[in-house]
Amino acid sequence: MLRSPFLYLSNAGWARRLVTRFPIARRMASRFVAGETPADAIAAIRALNARGINATLDHLGESVTNQAEAVRAADDYVHVLGEIHASAARSNVSIKLTQFGLDLDQDFCVRNARRVVEQARQLDNFVRIDMEDSFHTDDTLAVFRKLHQDYENVGLVLQAYLYRTQADLEALVAESTRIRLCKGAYQEPPDKAFPRKADVDANYVRLAQLLLDNARKLAPAPESGLVPPLAALATHDEKMISAIQAHVAATALPRTYFEYQMLYGIRRDLQQRLAAGGNAVRVYVPYGTEWYPYFMRRLAERPANVWFLLSNLARN
Ligand code: FDA
Repeated sequence: MLRSPFLYLSNAGWARRLVTRFPIARRMASRFVAGETPADAIAAIRALNARGINATLDHLGESVTNQAEAVRAADDYVHVLGEIHASAARSNVSIKLTQFGLDLDQDFCVRNARRVVEQARQLDNFVRIDMEDSFHTDDTLAVFRKLHQDYENVGLVLQAYLYRTQADLEALVAESTRIRLCKGAYQEPPDKAFPRKADVDANYVRLAQLLLDNARKLAPAPESGLVPPLAALATHDEKMISAIQAHVAATALPRTYFEYQMLYGIRRDLQQRLAAGGNAVRVYVPYGTEWYPYFMRRLAERPANVWFLLSNLARN
């Protein structure tokens, strides 16, 4: 019920200006965001690493409106990959193509993303391309494929809520793509995405099984914790995790062929339990000053977060 208004607000400039004025909102966002600087993010990653958990680092930002911002975003990622390497943190990076200029010009976006993927290759690291709303799906796939022609160290995200995803997944695993499967976090129309959560969940299980059945196409993940296996299952939903565990057991798939992924600050208990049980777990660690849309999407996912925010605002 609350999902749609918050997804609408995530794109509304007036709401961003209003919400970001409240220091309490920033403090609440810090539950999901590791800090403002690369040093903050790397400190959070090292703490995860010490608990046996790998990471993927996200420099928050999306939908840039000019080329200079996009070039700066790529520069920042090139720099932060160097910092990850220097600190020996077990983390790769996740990028959003609209932060690299996808809405301005596709070739320009490819050039920016290529610089980051090239730097990652030099450092034996890996770049995951996040999936944004369905308006960008075709372009994201097109940019991904241009990069994947030349680089193995780049992978993609697919969203179980879209009707098209099974076909995309089948094509991409045939191209030996490393895939992160998530449910999907954007507002989508009923002609593109399952409106009912039960259908999204059922599709997630189906696609997770398909991904796991293809997991042996690529070598297991190396011990560095940088390059992920072909199959990455991103969810905090214990029902999804039980279904994955049952399929893994039924097909005798070794744990080195897949990993679980979760978001920073969400279900830390579950992250730790899975890691302690000998599973590969990677946590998505966002940092930076552009936390507003990311924070709104996290509020949209769980009504309890909204009540917590409102009660804190009321008390301040
Ligand atoms: P679901 O939403 O059903 O939640 C299951 C349970 O998880 C809840 O009952 C609650 O306990 C917990 N939970 C979930 N969200 C929470 C929150 N915000 N706060 C507190 N508890 C919460 N999406 C996308 O469109 N493109 C992308 O590239 C990515 N990338 C990505 C990377 C990683 C590592 C993860 C884990 C997720 C994404 N997502 C994403 C987001 C994803 O699509 C989805 O919105 C969230 O993961 C929530 O879905 P769940 O599978 O957790 O299930």
